Amino acid sequence: MGLFDAIFGSKAIQDNILVDMHSHILPGIDDGAQNSDESICMIQHLFDHGKKKLIMTPHIMGGVYNNTPESVATVLENLKIEVAKKEIDIQLEAAAEYYLDEAFVEKLEKEEPLLCFGEKKYVLFETSYMNSSPLYNNAVFLMKTQGYSPVLAHPERYLYAYPNFETYVNLLERGVLFQLNTNSLTGYYSLQAQKMAEKLIDHGMVHFIGTDCHKMKHLQNLEKVTKLKYFKKLMDLPLLNNSLL
Ligand SMILES: [Fe+2]
Repeated sequence: MGLFDAIFGSKAIQDNILVDMHSHILPGIDDGAQNSDESICMIQHLFDHGKKKLIMTPHIMGGVYNNTPESVATVLENLKIEVAKKEIDIQLEAAAEYYLDEAFVEKLEKEEPLLCFGEKKYVLFETSYMNSSPLYNNAVFLMKTQGYSPVLAHPERYLYAYPNFETYVNLLERGVLFQLNTNSLTGYYSLQAQKMAEKLIDHGMVHFIGTDCHKMKHLQNLEKVTKLKYFKKLMDLPLLNNSLL
């Protein structure tokens, strides 16, 4: 028994999550996979761990990652060709992870179509880790009024919310859903992020789980996670991942 097993117990439960909806696997367009070889490695690994579909979500951030629906679609189609050559039987789609900045709000104000996924038009977005944004309320309002379902990426990772859990209760009341990162449950990011992840699970305030993988390193703990007490608790929640299949 390894150290991890000694600490967390060794009884794994079934990971029934068939769809991963947050990753940076599309090559060369953000800080994730840099080439299709890296992408294929991650896709093969996720396929081997039971994933049937990947909704890949490159960053979109004004002045840093200026990805567009057109450029994302092109990279997706090229990657699909590579995956077909390897005969990996997995569905591949793309959306985005929007950073909450002026550029994002501008897109909303101009009613430019956003990259989204699922019948409910889920839009994955993130904010600064350090500071909340004055744009928050307007962005959520605009997403909702335009028929999107906002999904906040990794709520457990935002330092500004640690002293004030009400932040998330308020967002939930305004129709924001929450996506937890798998690795948060292992303490990969920080103990604080792990504790917030556990608190969100305790409150039933998790709607999706995602790997948020940028590189193979982020996928190393996929099996170990399934042995954690809080993973089991998470699996008991009505997660929406498999509704995306
Ligand atoms: Fe991400």
